[in-house]
Amino acid sequence: MATKTRCHTSMRLGYEQRARGFRKLLIESLSVPKEKHSILPQGFQRIGHIVILNLRPGISGMARDIAGTVLESYPYVKTVCLNQGISGELRKPAIRYLAGEKRTETTHREGGCTFRFDVTRVMLSKGNLSERARLPGLVRPGETIVDMFAGIGYFSIPIARHARPGRVHAIEKNPVAFSYLRQNIALNSVQGTVAPMLGDCRDVLMGSVADRVVMGYLPKTHHYLPAAFRMLKHRGGTIHYHDTFHESELWDRPLDMLKNQAFRAGYVLKTVGHKSVVKEYSPGIYHVVIDAEFAGQ
Ligand SMILES: C[S@@+](CC[C@H](N)C(=O)[O-])C[C@H]1O[C@@H](n2cnc3c(N)ncnc32)[C@H](O)[C@@H]1O
Repeated sequence: MATKTRCHTSMRLGYEQRARGFRKLLIESLSVPKEKHSILPQGFQRIGHIVILNLRPGISGMARDIAGTVLESYPYVKTVCLNQGISGELRKPAIRYLAGEKRTETTHREGGCTFRFDVTRVMLSKGNLSERARLPGLVRPGETIVDMFAGIGYFSIPIARHARPGRVHAIEKNPVAFSYLRQNIALNSVQGTVAPMLGDCRDVLMGSVADRVVMGYLPKTHHYLPAAFRMLKHRGGTIHYHDTFHESELWDRPLDMLKNQAFRAGYVLKTVGHKSVVKEYSPGIYHVVIDAEFAGQ
């Protein structure tokens, strides 16, 4: 099993995965039966003024009480919501409002970037926090980037702010996410660098322009590899390939898949600069990322 990528500590700002003493606080504030102590949450995700709770099934009945304790104990939190999963091609979150102000649109600051969005309408992957921090450091001045699944600008905006790309083409299919993407481009003053495009990345007529293609999407990301190769420069470039694989498939299957798809598209896999597990996606299934460099055949 590969080791997880380590989070850049300064990028943890928007998150408190383990709020110190949170479980103890809940035990002291609420009358929780002893047998449930071990399944109480140890922390929460914070996005702007909003806390999102992930609760195990055995304590979901206590959601409102836990939300009340959060509001009383952390004055910077104004709204508490419950995470009930994520679904569909457009990765729509199922987030239920629980307590506090009924404002689910927020401004989230992370790694020197500002992201405005509604947590009930658009997702922000906490697993990708380290990836959002890592990518700008790889981009060389003047590169053309294609972000195939741009969302609200999770990757495009940090790249535009912290690296010196020539152009970042940010493609997004969901009109709601696209509208936030445009707002975030303006909020972060990167209008001159990031070009937003509304549409399906498989249908966009872009030409072979990219030095680097970012594929920040799950699951079945391999279905989009032919489109990624169509956007890569003929001489080659790098694809940041996210996908899900069973533990037993790491790393032979993803690497074989990349080699085969590259061959079909007229490229060869030159080097794998980085490969790591981003998070456990479901039991035994891992979200992985591979930085693969290809050359034209
Ligand atoms: C949810 S984001 C991935 C998470 C993000 N990288 C992060 O760090 O939080 C994936 C985005 O891809 C968009 N998307 C899905 N299929 C697409 C397609 N075929 N073309 C373009 N965008 C697509 C979704 O609407 C969504 O906004």
